[in-house]
Amino acid sequence: MIQLGVNIDHIATTRQARRTFEPDPVTAASLAVLGGADIITVHLREDRRHIQDRDVRLLRETIFTKLNLEMSTAPEIVDIAIKTKPEQATLVPEKRQEITTEGGLDVVSQKKTIMDAIKKFKDAGILVSLFIDPEESQIAAAKDAGAQYIELHTGNYANARDEAARNAEIGRLLAGVMTAQKCGLRVNAGHGLTYQNVGLLVASIDVEELHIGHSIVSRAVFVGIQKAVSEMKDLIFRHNLARKTSG
Ligand code: PXP
Repeated sequence: MIQLGVNIDHIATTRQARRTFEPDPVTAASLAVLGGADIITVHLREDRRHIQDRDVRLLRETIFTKLNLEMSTAPEIVDIAIKTKPEQATLVPEKRQEITTEGGLDVVSQKKTIMDAIKKFKDAGILVSLFIDPEESQIAAAKDAGAQYIELHTGNYANARDEAARNAEIGRLLAGVMTAQKCGLRVNAGHGLTYQNVGLLVASIDVEELHIGHSIVSRAVFVGIQKAVSEMKDLIFRHNLARKTSG
């Protein structure tokens, strides 16, 4: 069954709006696990706009599911990750001005920097995933660089305006999954996924983990995070089961 990674960055965004102590992403993580999260994800950004060093430290002490730390290859952040020892590090591109992660990593042009970071993580026993667009050249470069996983960027699928555009993006993701699996990479996916668009994706492609943040945290404002997570988990379970039993 597909594992659900819940990204709790935006619980911290609300806290940082007032630089106070609430809502605490560490509490949210425990409730997300009770709701069925298989993985807790946080992005420790260089500008610390949401998740803080203290959150990462306390999450490592209190979360016993897989902890997935998203980050750039900035040496300071890589060092924190190595000390924290999450089960998985997901490398993403990071720009100061962006609202959220825009586009996948350009592994082709940054191969040396990425390879150096991957080596450090591997030496520390941490799995590495690279967040990339579903392009053959990036998938091949991710394999060459030594990553165990890729996370395919589903942003274009999520933003597709009509059925034809959505189906075209599903086609690109499907081709990406097949190319990656053929060369021995494990495949995750995420970005922009919602309660409305996750079903078609799960019904169409085979991945190990889905990483979802904003939509779950948005729903949690109204129904609580435990319920928001369990509703997403149930949707994924039903669509995954339907795909497996139909073919
Ligand atoms: N995967 C990666 C690599 C991301 O950077 C993000 C956003 O932080 C997500 C998944 C989750 O995206 P969203 O918040 O749109 O669900």
